[in-house]
Amino acid sequence: MARILVTRRLPDGGLEPLAGHDIVGPNDDDRPYTHDELVAYARECDAIVCLLTDIIDAAVLEAGAAASLRVVANVAVGYDNVDVATAAKLGVTVCNTPGVLDETTADLAFLLMLAASRLSSEAEADLRAGRWKGWGITQYLGRDVYGAQLGLVGYGRIGQAVAQRAEGFGMHVWYHSRTDYGHAGYVEDLDRLLAESDIISLHCPGGPATHHLIDAHRIAIMPPHAILVNTARGTVVDEAALAAALHAGHLFAAGIDVYEREPEIHPDLLSAPRTVLLPHIGSGTIATRTNMATMATGAVATVLSGGVPPNVVAA
Ligand code: GLV
Repeated sequence: MARILVTRRLPDGGLEPLAGHDIVGPNDDDRPYTHDELVAYARECDAIVCLLTDIIDAAVLEAGAAASLRVVANVAVGYDNVDVATAAKLGVTVCNTPGVLDETTADLAFLLMLAASRLSSEAEADLRAGRWKGWGITQYLGRDVYGAQLGLVGYGRIGQAVAQRAEGFGMHVWYHSRTDYGHAGYVEDLDRLLAESDIISLHCPGGPATHHLIDAHRIAIMPPHAILVNTARGTVVDEAALAAALHAGHLFAAGIDVYEREPEIHPDLLSAPRTVLLPHIGSGTIATRTNMATMATGAVATVLSGGVPPNVVAA
């Protein structure tokens, strides 16, 4: 029987693959563990099941590897919160949850695209606050999604799922990514894609390689009628520069689900006009979050029984 730290409460059924093991955590109020707590638990556990809000850095991994830590399973497809290079050096397996959240996250990217284009947050806020005085032909004039040029930054599974939806909406899709997947619409020059898209949706991984990929300079390249959607990672966008562009009317609108310093949101983004802000719910459906949990805990069970799960990002 292995000892496994599960840092936060998981959806119902999420722990089933770990039946028979000794589970520690989460704490009673389901608050994130501090770094010191993670280091202490790493020293006494064989496995950690964590969320993207847990920073599993070198200190945690070294403390664990010096004892009996064998595997870290991140209940997320992104794993920029885990120091995978150190894990690989120490022989600690790291797993994520690819494939099970693509469609759900693509749905949310589309929701943000539609909501931002049609100014739905502002319109609804006015209605709820009693500011709507009746139909007006010049009110809440958004931009059409159908027929728009959609530029995807990142074209992995989620980017491709968004592209599929976009076709149904009569959009013209092109994409920039590290890899030319051989699909029609590949653009090598990111700046060209940004300059000539009506809607830009981000689907690249987080981490140092994409930190502020969308900075003030690249936001300035986008046409003033452009709409930016981010369901990838907050760190991909310079949040202060985005907020400044929205306040200045340089961008038409933005739909954002992820932030640079979650759960903090840049105050200028909170007050920015024509902005739809959601609290990182891209994969948030009952089925998908349950699948993510069982995929992560299933991977832990596999590693602990000597197998190799399919969802390994470092070993
Ligand atoms: C969510 O953001 C994930 O990476 O799964």
